[in-house]
Amino acid sequence: MARVFSGIKPTGEMQLGNFCGAIQHWVAGQPAPGTPAADAGDAVFCVVDLHAMTVPYDPADLRRLTRELATLLLASGLDEQRSLLFIQSHVGGIHSECTWLLNNTATIGELRRMTQFKDKSQGQESVSVGLFNYPVLMASDILLYDTEEVPVGDDQRQHVELTRDIAMRFNARFGETFMIPRATYPPSGARIMDLQNPTKKMSKSGGDSPGCVFVLDDPKRIAKKIKSAVTDSDTDIRYDTEAKPGISNLLDLYAAATKSTLGEAASHFDGQRYGDLKVAVADAVVAMLEPVQARYAELSADPAEVDRILAHGAQRAAERATPVLDRMRDAVGLLRPAIR
Ligand code: AMP
Ligand code: TRP
Repeated sequence: MARVFSGIKPTGEMQLGNFCGAIQHWVAGQPAPGTPAADAGDAVFCVVDLHAMTVPYDPADLRRLTRELATLLLASGLDEQRSLLFIQSHVGGIHSECTWLLNNTATIGELRRMTQFKDKSQGQESVSVGLFNYPVLMASDILLYDTEEVPVGDDQRQHVELTRDIAMRFNARFGETFMIPRATYPPSGARIMDLQNPTKKMSKSGGDSPGCVFVLDDPKRIAKKIKSAVTDSDTDIRYDTEAKPGISNLLDLYAAATKSTLGEAASHFDGQRYGDLKVAVADAVVAMLEPVQARYAELSADPAEVDRILAHGAQRAAERATPVLDRMRDAVGLLRPAIR
């Protein structure tokens, strides 16, 4: 099984785009139940709290959102027996040191070209070094676990490409140190759009809005948001993101929620009305999220169990990442301490 790593920021509540574009595939890609322990632990997932600090935030919110997000990832089906879940700052020393070492391989020019940096820094009076450096920390997350595959939504394409470039440059300069990872994308749901503005991607950072469905929204609210989705004044249902972004987004959601292909979704609704499509999408999304919500209610009543899983995850993550960091230290010429 390929070694997998991915992360999610606790900058807000998990939304439907996160679930369809990433989480669902993290869960599905875990080793099969009963895989021998020696082969398990190959799927590593991280709540990237250090990344969440690169935009303005409230410290109390960060702490609460970090715990909620970890709980929700477990409720979504990440399984301690089959994968490793940890909070980035719990092994923050290792990730930060790796970032510092990689800072000398990454260049200002390539970081400046990152569209996420451009979007988030645009119009700001002052831009933090953290926001600029964000992709190098992300490269560290990935490279520290000898990652082969990074399951992400479409918006992370450029960051994973940069990670590959940094890793290859480092290997060329200092000798073979890193595995070269590649991004993997889901067949549907890789880019879920805002329901009210289907040319903009759905995002948790905008707070509660009618265009964004949160995984923990109650079913009535989910249905209401989906049924109010902006479409177009035409009547035929087909997948065409240019001409019909709203309808295409609903088809994408349907495919992701029912695990069918886009082609199957489009032909299923051929000849039906927009209203029928909306009802079917709402039902499918509610059916997909209801078990997650039920499990979340159970788990959030047992914070000690979540703490235990996260503590164990952090310990295993440190065991995995430390030898890779040591490899880097040796490669770049740092003197090993005599006693460790
Ligand atoms: P973030 O919330 O930015 O930390 O994203 C966590 C994961 O969800 C990443 O793999 C993103 O690519 C994915 N993701 C975020 N928003 C969307 C979206 N609207 N559609 C599909 N995937 C998304
Ligand atoms: N930048 C990613 C996002 O916004 C989050 C992230 C941080 C990540 N480190 C990662 C994703 C490592 C995959 C692998 O979604």
